[in-house]
Parts: sequence; structure tokens; C-alpha cells
Amino acid sequence: MSRKNSLAVIDFGGQYAHLIATKFRNRGYHAEIRNPEDPVERFAGYAGVVISGSPNLSAFDEESGTLGAVLDLPIPVLGFCYGHQEIAKHYGGSVMRGRQEFGPAILEIVSESPIFKGIPKESTVFMSHGDTVCSVGEGFREIGVSSSAGSGRHTFAAIADDTRRRYGFQYHPEVDDSQFGEEMLMNFARICGLAPTWDVSTSLEERKAAIRERVGDRTVFLLVSGGVDSTVLGELLIEALGPEAVHLLHVDTGFMRQGESAAVTEIFHERCGDRYHVVDASDLFIEALEGVTEPEHKRNIIGEAFVTVCEREMSTLDLSHALLAQGTIYPDTVESGGEKRAKVIKTHHNRVKLMEEMIARGQVIEPLADLYKKEVRDLGASLGIPAPLLERHPFPGPGLAVRLLASRGETPEAFDPALGARATPYLPAGVEGAILPIPSVGVKADLRSYELPLILHQNGGDALDEVFHARIFSCVPSLVKEIPGINRVLISLTGPLPSATPRPAFMTRQRIELLRRADHLVNTALTELGLMEAVWQFPVVLVPLNIGEKGQELVVLRPVSTVRAMTCTVPILPRAFYEGCVAGLSALPGVGAVALDATTKPPGTIEWE
Ligand code: XMP
Repeated sequence: MSRKNSLAVIDFGGQYAHLIATKFRNRGYHAEIRNPEDPVERFAGYAGVVISGSPNLSAFDEESGTLGAVLDLPIPVLGFCYGHQEIAKHYGGSVMRGRQEFGPAILEIVSESPIFKGIPKESTVFMSHGDTVCSVGEGFREIGVSSSAGSGRHTFAAIADDTRRRYGFQYHPEVDDSQFGEEMLMNFARICGLAPTWDVSTSLEERKAAIRERVGDRTVFLLVSGGVDSTVLGELLIEALGPEAVHLLHVDTGFMRQGESAAVTEIFHERCGDRYHVVDASDLFIEALEGVTEPEHKRNIIGEAFVTVCEREMSTLDLSHALLAQGTIYPDTVESGGEKRAKVIKTHHNRVKLMEEMIARGQVIEPLADLYKKEVRDLGASLGIPAPLLERHPFPGPGLAVRLLASRGETPEAFDPALGARATPYLPAGVEGAILPIPSVGVKADLRSYELPLILHQNGGDALDEVFHARIFSCVPSLVKEIPGINRVLISLTGPLPSATPRPAFMTRQRIELLRRADHLVNTALTELGLMEAVWQFPVVLVPLNIGEKGQELVVLRPVSTVRAMTCTVPILPRAFYEGCVAGLSALPGVGAVALDATTKPPGTIEWE
């Protein structure tokens, strides 16, 4: 695709790089994330470049990657925080250590510039920096100063060279706390000569042409899970290449939801006839996972099993020469592109080593790799895909496997039952806590954690009450901060758990079936009460534990609200919904207790593994 109508956002690992691109795209300007190591020629074709902040680089380090060469390109450049300091330094200004500012500050515009068109003289901006620009080189002017409680007045909060079209902000205009930040970004897009004409449907023809060019007269082989991304990609490929050139494969891993494989088959068989293939590979997946309990180990086995099945089917169908298509979307690409800076929290099923090798050999195409989930849905709508197919909750590639916890029955080393009592001072009266002896994956300070959950119960009160849930949600940050070794907080919906001990349990067909039934029951309750749109995603997790007399499985309900899945909160749902779930789930064989996961991301992640 041509880049002359796009902006490049260079991601130096700042938390908000995603947000910069999103803000532009939401207002009709196409922007995409790039790595600092990309060759300078790649940047030359863009209408402009934005340089993000950085958590670990400072202007006192060597200029990173191709940044110096990018700054010499004749296109507009805007930098924030680290990017701002690099611009000042590159053109002969200076930066000093110290004089930190965190949180809100007042920006005062001291000189006019097109970057501040329409912005009031004073507004609130969001600061998060340790170093400070203290002089600028020839051609540059100070256009904004800041002041904040506790750290006084800061010069050079915004700088500009309108002739070279270089702009730097010490603050973060991309976060919502910066009052007119979004307007400043839009001013930059205008300085780059762009008009707000982008949305996914305007680029549909260009996208199809790019697919045709890449594929040529080859056949494409697409794995369809039935999720939104692969459904949209299937339709896009058929439109771009014609139905004859597209073969679809649905792999039943054994970890699909109830009725899911049949529904996928119904949709695609009708559309593609004998170019739709379905394979029941559940034996292969389940056998490969026998005895495995560690989440990353599981994820790698699942990803590699996908590749094995795919290669086998391609060879059987005499399609080994075909290109493999994947519905990978933007956050996946960025996360793997940013691997140098970001630690692996979870290996996605389409990013295991065997798949990376196929990608390196040029055997894979990922035509949705520049889109967010919302944009994939918009693209699907412009392709005429019915709304109910597009609005479904996202479902992870490894399926129910990452929601079915397995255990050797050993007590985790970090398990200390006495820690539960430390929760008491942070809880409403009558609420008590216990630590559960089984870890799950979370994310703390951008690092993976593998820690234990704290489960709370209230003596005699109503465990399903919405007000009670809200009260507990507000305690979660202090609990996670004060109790070492926990990364999740659960609310028991079925009374106290007297003696939860570890239980050996693996990925058996019987347990998968139990989870499938539990998941189906919860989804049916959501649909019946019209709550599907009130949550973004709703994992149901099965945790093996000996729970006194009561049973051997704890069912955890994990409703989440989010926009980009990089963070999440927990929505409050009505009592009637939980009442129905608890009654139905408690009647399933082996289920001893039901709990609600009250953890935000971070410190939890959405999925437990
Ligand atoms: P976490 O658990 O990391 O999940 O907070 C964020 C989002 O990603 C989904 N997810 C996956 N999707 N393949 C996928 O296609 C995977 O391997 C995978 N792992 C997590 C998860 O369901 C949530 O929406």
C-alpha cells in the first residue's frame, strides 16, 4: 500500500504508542506503528513521522536505530517526551537530567504556531518525564511552557521550527488527560497535508489489489476458526482473488465451544463448497497436551499442532505450494514487532517458532495485520458480512485450552495459607480471604507474572449483590499491592471454601466437556438477559481443586470491559445473571464452587493462561 496518505509512529516502547496511532485513525487519518530499526527509506514515503516516548531510553543515549536519518528527511516530524528531547538535541539544543514532572500540568502557549491552531492559551496536559530540554538550536522557538504543583515552571515544554516542520512536546498529547491533545495531533496531520478521509472501507479496493499483487496466480489456504478475524479475512480473500483461488480449513482442536465447529461448517460450506475443508484433529491436540500443565508449554504445543495439521492437510489436498493466510491483526503484529523491547507475556498460537519460520520463508500472508479489532469489524461490514457474525466476542486461537487449568496436584512453592489473613484490613467488615494453591498468568509492570489468586467470601451477606461487588472491586488495587505473590482477586459466589487443596488434573476429554457445558451455560444466560454487549469478552475458567466435600472443580467467571484488550476492567453485572449462572453451574457434575474474577489487567491478564 502507498504510504503517502499515512503517518508513521515510531514506537520506542512508550506505553502510549498504540494510542497515538488509534487517535489519528479514529479521526480519519491513517497512522501505523513502525520500529526504530526500520530502514530510513521506509519512512521516506510517509506524509509525516511521530516519535513516541520511551520508558528506557534517554536523550543521553546514542540516537537509536535510524532516528537521526529520519530527522533529516524533508517530511514533518512531531516528537513527544523522549522524541521531543531527541528533536531538540539533533538540531543543536540541549537536554539536562532531572526536574521530573508526573501527572497533570498547565501548558501555557507563549508563541503562535500552526501546531497550536485553535488551542486556548492555557490548558491541562499530562506529563511523565525525568529529563528536560533546556535550550534549542537555530531555527527553533519555545512555543509552550508548563507549570505544575510541586515542580514549578518548566521552559521548553513545546518547541517548533515551522520552516523545517519539526515540533516537540514534553507532555503526552495522546492521553485523554491532555485536554486539547487530540486537537494538537490533528493539527499535525493537517501540517502534513492530510485530509481526514481514511476508514477501512475507503481502502478496501487498495487492500484487495495488494492481496492480488502478493498472491499472483497462486492458491491461498486459510485457517478459519469461525472467529471475527478469520471470517472477515475469508470473505476478503474470496472477493479479491475469486472463490476458485481460496481454500479454507477449519481445524476442530477439541477445544472449541459447544456447536462452534458445526456453525463454522454451515457458514463456509455453503459459501465455498468443496473448497471448504474441516478436520477433526482433537486426538492430536489432546494427546500432545497429555500431562502438560505449564501455560507457555501448552501454548507452544497448540501452536505447533496447528502447523502440523495444516501442513498435513495441504499435502493431502495437493496444495503444498499454496500460500498460508492468517487473520493476525494489528496488536499481534506490533507485539511481536516490539519483542526487542517488550517481554513475552504469552505466546500467541499464530506466533510459535514453526510459524515464524514459515513467515520468514515468505509462505504466509496476513492481510489484516494493520487493523484493530474494531476496524476488522468495520471492514467486515463493508464486505456485507451480517452483523451477528461480526459482533461475536473474541475467542482465542488456543480456545478452551487456555481456560482449562491443569495441575500435578503439587502445592506451589510460593503457597502460604497465612497470607489470606493479610487481606482483612483492606476489606469491608465480614469479608475474609484465602489463597488458592494454583497459579495463573498475569502482567505486572510490563512483565509476566505467574502467581496465586486470593479468594474472598462474605459471612452471611449476599455474595451476588452488585453493590457488594463494586465495593470489592475498589479494594483490588490495595490487595494486590499489599499481599505478596498474588496477581488475582476472586469473589466466591458460593460461600466460603474451607479447604481448597491442589488436585492432579489434566486436559482430559471429560474436563473439556465440563468446561464446554459451563461456557455454554454462561453464554446462554448472557444472551437471554441481553448482556452480550455489556461485556467485551467473557472467559469461563475451570480450576482443579479439592474443595472440601463439595467437589473438584472451581468455575471462575471472567467478564471484562476493554477497548484494545491491552488493559481491562471488570463490569458490574446484575444479580439475576449471577443467580442463574450459580444455579446452573453448581448442578454440573464435579463443580464445587463458583467465583467471579474481580481483577483488572494489569495485574491480571484477560485469560488465565
Ligand atoms: P490476555 O489474556 O493476554 O488476552 O489479556 C488479551 C486478548 O487476546 C486474546 N488471546 C489470544 N488470541 N491467540 C489469539 O488469537 C492467542 O494465542 C491468544 N491468547 C490470548 C484473549 O482472548 C484476549 O482477547
